[in-house]
Amino acid sequence: MEKKQLENLLEHMSMREKIGQLILLSGDFFGTDEIATGPKEKLGIEEWVVDYAGSAMNVLGTEKVRNIQEKHMKKSKIPLLFMGDIVYGYKTIFPIPLALASSWNMALIKECAEVVAKEASAAGAHVTFAPMVDVVRDARWGRCMESPGEDPYYNSQFAAAMVNGFQGELKAGESLVSCVKHFAGYGAVEAGREYNTVDMSRWRLMQEYLPPYKAAVDAGCRMVMTSFNTIEGVPVTANRWLLDDILRKTWNFDGVIVTDYAAVQELIAHGVASNDREAAYLSMNAGVDIDMKTPCYANQLQPLCEGGILSIEKIDKAVMRVLTLKNELGLFEDPYQGLDIDREKRYLHCDKHREKAKEAAAASMVLLKNSNNTLPLQKKIKIALIGPYSDSKELNGMWAVHCDRENVVTLKEAFQRKFGASQVRTCRGCELMDDYESLGDFGGFFHIGSILKHSKEEELAKSIELAKWADVVVFAVGEHMLQSGESGSRTKPEIPRVQSAWMDEVLPYAKKSVTLLFNGRPLVVGDIVEKTDAVLECYFPGSDGADSISELVSGEKNPSGRLTMSFPREVGQIPVYYNHFSTGRPQGISEHTGRYVSRYLDCPNEPYFPFGYGLSYHESVYSEITLSSDRLMGEGSIYAKLTIENLTETEGEEVVQLYIHDLFASVVRPVKELKDFQKIKLGAHEKKEVVFEIRREMLQFVDQNYHMVVEPGEFELFIGKNSIACKKAKFFYQE
Ligand code: GLC
Repeated sequence: MEKKQLENLLEHMSMREKIGQLILLSGDFFGTDEIATGPKEKLGIEEWVVDYAGSAMNVLGTEKVRNIQEKHMKKSKIPLLFMGDIVYGYKTIFPIPLALASSWNMALIKECAEVVAKEASAAGAHVTFAPMVDVVRDARWGRCMESPGEDPYYNSQFAAAMVNGFQGELKAGESLVSCVKHFAGYGAVEAGREYNTVDMSRWRLMQEYLPPYKAAVDAGCRMVMTSFNTIEGVPVTANRWLLDDILRKTWNFDGVIVTDYAAVQELIAHGVASNDREAAYLSMNAGVDIDMKTPCYANQLQPLCEGGILSIEKIDKAVMRVLTLKNELGLFEDPYQGLDIDREKRYLHCDKHREKAKEAAAASMVLLKNSNNTLPLQKKIKIALIGPYSDSKELNGMWAVHCDRENVVTLKEAFQRKFGASQVRTCRGCELMDDYESLGDFGGFFHIGSILKHSKEEELAKSIELAKWADVVVFAVGEHMLQSGESGSRTKPEIPRVQSAWMDEVLPYAKKSVTLLFNGRPLVVGDIVEKTDAVLECYFPGSDGADSISELVSGEKNPSGRLTMSFPREVGQIPVYYNHFSTGRPQGISEHTGRYVSRYLDCPNEPYFPFGYGLSYHESVYSEITLSSDRLMGEGSIYAKLTIENLTETEGEEVVQLYIHDLFASVVRPVKELKDFQKIKLGAHEKKEVVFEIRREMLQFVDQNYHMVVEPGEFELFIGKNSIACKKAKFFYQE
């Protein structure tokens, strides 16, 4: 439709039709012949709201979407927009984002998003509530799993790759509108507690937390989701500075702003609104277009307009943004565009997509320890694959809400395929958790409870019997899938004690031991790492990830993943992250001695595993850095190069990371900041030269007046295989 036609459409819409476009309801409102009375009454809305609703969420499937759209079009002349949480997979499930990010391969990440978009749009989805790009530095927060990690620059690269992968050319039936979330700063919830307060200086928010969302906007994402938290004492959903001054006026975002679930009405619980009407006013006034799943916009926008509190122009602008998005998708020409049952059948979880998921999972896993070259395992070897994840289908993580669990390949299947059924014997060994009750109730959507087929005593006896039989014990252990994800905050982010106690009973019988970790966030894993010979971080690797694990463990593939979030040594260190400030008394540098430096009495400052860390089966050595010049002038460039050599027969990949440190500036600057990276392949005994271009924009930072500036002076440049093991050089920048 032409813009003029849209304007004409808007002009002839009734107030209810306009308000309807600003309402997002869950699928249960639409699925029945009669309007679902239960949800309607429970939410406190009238029937017209459903008749005129603009969007439906988390109801997908070609036939279902077609039926709902057909029924809807009989009541409203404006098609529904179908949205959903298709964060890292629809039916083919990729590794959770914290894992996918560990691949350090943006082309691959984009390809994964393209597959997700193909599958979900074939099932009728128009919008995905992804990517989540919140910077996270607190392993207690369950939603680390959804994030690419702790670094603003890296999360920005991830954001752009995912937006481009989801949206492509915004082609009907192939693309998904990307709704970046959670704007803004949600990863900094105090104490890692879900839905908790966020409070930090505006300077830090702009320097460290906003960049990934801006990267998504710059990449063209067409939707932004407001976060549950406050910023500077105002809930984001009512925060005009963030939504209007920053997002719309400074970043020129002209897409749609949707709230997170029920966030408009939660302004009352926050204590900034005393009722639905005030909540509706504050949200609309701040710039929120769509109210997700509350009655506030539905019941209060009209009286607010009629009472002269809200201008109809404000509402018209919001409605026009929603209509424009629907128009960009071609929905007015064809509300059923892309709905094709044959294509849906062809695409969903097809072999090609599964291959991509396997490739992504293999590239995402991080080898944390490999003493005495325990891994890879030789082919003719007897393996005791034991533990709660030895034959579990719960490998998708908490946000794979549209997955078909029966599609998941189990470790047992994958290992027996790879090593031979007679060489792999399994048992679950112990419970996943000490107490399943704490997980809460999911109404039967997930199995929550004992996973054992036999008594604990029998399981332990079996575990020991298998350990005695085997040449190597592979412990498949980890968090319960529901111990991370939304509302998955933990004060003790560790392997459940019942599992580590069981491991202690079995380890004395193990000739060699490997730990496969399944988790949705960094864990305090020192005890596990110290007591087993090799540790592979698998996170939740998705529907076909078990096959990738068998490829890595057998040496068919060489681990290349690198951590994008620090693993704390102790919970007491949290937040612990690599790009910290120096402080006035940096340990090991300060002239102050002994006690009187920035340190703990009972723990080193460094994390257990740092940002960028990961091992491979090959060994590499990095040469010293050579600079084309040690003077960077104005808009010019200098080049940093070094040679990386593979010292072994085993081909592999290196994630070569470039960090910069601004030694002296008008505000404190992190001791290191990731500014670029290259993932390179190295053949057996191959030497490769790697070159990085150093440019002025890498030196930018937010000053005290919230301006993006570059200040002349001295800089350190680091290049290495992680954020600690680096070669160093120095250069000067002058305007
Ligand atoms: C949830 C989450 C958000 C999700 C939304 C819709 O509460 O915070 O990430 O997209 O609601 O399910």
